[in-house]
Amino acid sequence: MRIRCNPARFALVLMGTVLLPGVARAQTGAQVSSPDGRNTVTVGVREGRLTYSVERDGRPVLLPSGLGFTFRGAAPLRDNLRIVDTVRRTVDETWTQAWGEVAQVRDHHHELRVGVAETAPPARRFTLAVRAFDDGVAFRYEVPAQPALGAFEMTDELTEFVMADNARAWWIPALREHRYEYLYSASPVSMLDTVHTPLTMETSDGLYVVIHEANLVDYAAMNLLGNDPSVPSLMPAVGGRRLRAWLSPWADGVKVRGRTPFVSPWRTIQLADRVTDLAPSVLGLNLNPPNVLEDTDWIEPGKYVGIWWGMHIGTMTWSSGPKHGATTENTRRYIDFAAEHGFDGVLVEGWNVGWDGDWIQNAEQFSFTQPYPDYDLQGLARYAWERGVRLIGHNETSMGIENYEAQLEDAFTRYETLGMNAVKTGYVGDLTRDGHAHHGQYMVRHWRTVLESAARHHLMIDAHEPIKDTGERRTYPNMMTREGARGQEYNAWKDDGGNPPEHETILFFTRMLSGPMDFTPGVFDILIEQADGPPRRPWEPRVRTTLAKQLALYVVLYSPLHMAADLPENYAGRPAFQFIRDVPVDWEQTRVLAGAIGDYVVVARRERDGRDWYVGAITDEEAREMEVSLSFLTPGTPYVAEIYADGPDADWRTNPLPIAISERPVDATSRLTLRMAQGGGQAIRIRPVAAGAQ
Ligand code: NOJ
Ligand code: CA
Repeated sequence: MRIRCNPARFALVLMGTVLLPGVARAQTGAQVSSPDGRNTVTVGVREGRLTYSVERDGRPVLLPSGLGFTFRGAAPLRDNLRIVDTVRRTVDETWTQAWGEVAQVRDHHHELRVGVAETAPPARRFTLAVRAFDDGVAFRYEVPAQPALGAFEMTDELTEFVMADNARAWWIPALREHRYEYLYSASPVSMLDTVHTPLTMETSDGLYVVIHEANLVDYAAMNLLGNDPSVPSLMPAVGGRRLRAWLSPWADGVKVRGRTPFVSPWRTIQLADRVTDLAPSVLGLNLNPPNVLEDTDWIEPGKYVGIWWGMHIGTMTWSSGPKHGATTENTRRYIDFAAEHGFDGVLVEGWNVGWDGDWIQNAEQFSFTQPYPDYDLQGLARYAWERGVRLIGHNETSMGIENYEAQLEDAFTRYETLGMNAVKTGYVGDLTRDGHAHHGQYMVRHWRTVLESAARHHLMIDAHEPIKDTGERRTYPNMMTREGARGQEYNAWKDDGGNPPEHETILFFTRMLSGPMDFTPGVFDILIEQADGPPRRPWEPRVRTTLAKQLALYVVLYSPLHMAADLPENYAGRPAFQFIRDVPVDWEQTRVLAGAIGDYVVVARRERDGRDWYVGAITDEEAREMEVSLSFLTPGTPYVAEIYADGPDADWRTNPLPIAISERPVDATSRLTLRMAQGGGQAIRIRPVAAGAQ
């Protein structure tokens, strides 16, 4: 790592009191710019309140925005503030990911630490740490131990994000039931109510701005509250362009309980000139501490199948009875299938006692060690192991957190003893049994408890209904993947309308900027003809893509654990299945070749430690023809492109299955024309011709 302290390189720091037009007395603050000089954060004081603003190329992105906290039983930490000192440094280091969308990540930033103190008793103090990167800026509060601020109950974080432009935002609502599982809407910032992050926005002059957070530890997840006139602002005349942090609460309304010293999560503002520059996003990873696990050899990205889709389409049940999915016999069938086709894992849901009756209400009845009588846990774990496959444990909590934590060590010890290496957790429910918010500090603490315990027991985590991703995978590379959006399962349900064809083209530029998603692609029975029970409408349930698009999703939606979601029998005799067998889940490089939010995405990725490239292209309900250059290939090397394209008459609504599989020679000078049907896509493997070149 290279760390330099060179104050002369930075913008002038003016300390003093000046009069700005239209604003009362202000203490001019300090600035820090990104290494390329384009992104600048200015921290200043106006009427005793600390503000920050963000510019790119000298043009405002965020206008002066408020900072601070309110507490129960103590005065807000917001007023009578003065900047007392500044400290600067530069970091330029490159680190290697355990796995990911890219192998190498460069962390190059300028940091400014602004010491702030109250000018009147109780004279509390804190530091605002600001980092400016070429791909965005970030800041966090660092509050040292001090007599006037020890234990605290924070009732609000007052951080604002005042957009200079009434940008178009792609959003899902926050603090509602169903967590993050909504279809995205697009509206001007001034129309937003309470929304989740990452919040992706496009300004009227074409700049992309993404607000999110990083390193969420022992704190509450941040939602963004839109223009609420009842919340006083430092900048009242902003025309509804003020977003404010709105933390997920404890049952009693407190947002964060703590004691100094403490640091908040980083508040991140990713910036990009082109939408294709947004991904892969590493800003948040660079703001998380490095890996703390000494040994990571046991962490293995991979693909899995599972006893899962059957429950969602109604042909199997989690509960015991005639349709019980998790039987010994059925599981052996899945293990055999996985071994035959090179899958690493077999997920089994409904294996453990507690699913009978209303499992969403009866959280306390879940055992995480006791299998149903028709499920031979030990024998199946051994059977899988002997075939080079691992069972993936499933722990649905229904938000019964105390019940889960009471069993956690026993359960994880048992799984480890049985040779299992991954657990899928689940948090169906909107509040804990005690009424704490699904993404509040209570749950964030729980989340870390599970992650640490899993690491001790050499278990990888795939979480559904998760806390949003804030980059923990850098510190705990066993935090593999998670849901946290509407996944494939929504296509299996009869009364939710499914995911429309544009869904994944939005996910790529919103949810996926936070990290991997266990979307569970690969459904080949697109019309779900096996679904049990009468359809609500003639076309429900069904998947709303073509078959080729199901393949492309393996490349487009990154996950280090990717599922082949369909029933094994639906892959029999289907040549397209070869792509799922081939596609890697760990990448050396990623290039977004084309994209428009809500319309289409084309991504190329090179496999880790290998020479094969894969291209995934998806479109919304519009058919598209696009030409892409293969200039990313190694010049002079001949390759073969194995192309899985929509068949001539394919159409997601009327004719989703036709797929045209072909091969053609290509090299770095080639251009490929991608033809995608309505709701379609294309998946391509590009491998060097030379034998042994891989
Ligand atoms: C919702 C999860 O997303 C799904 O994958 C799981 O099968 C059910 N909960 C039951 O745990
Ligand atoms: Ca879910």
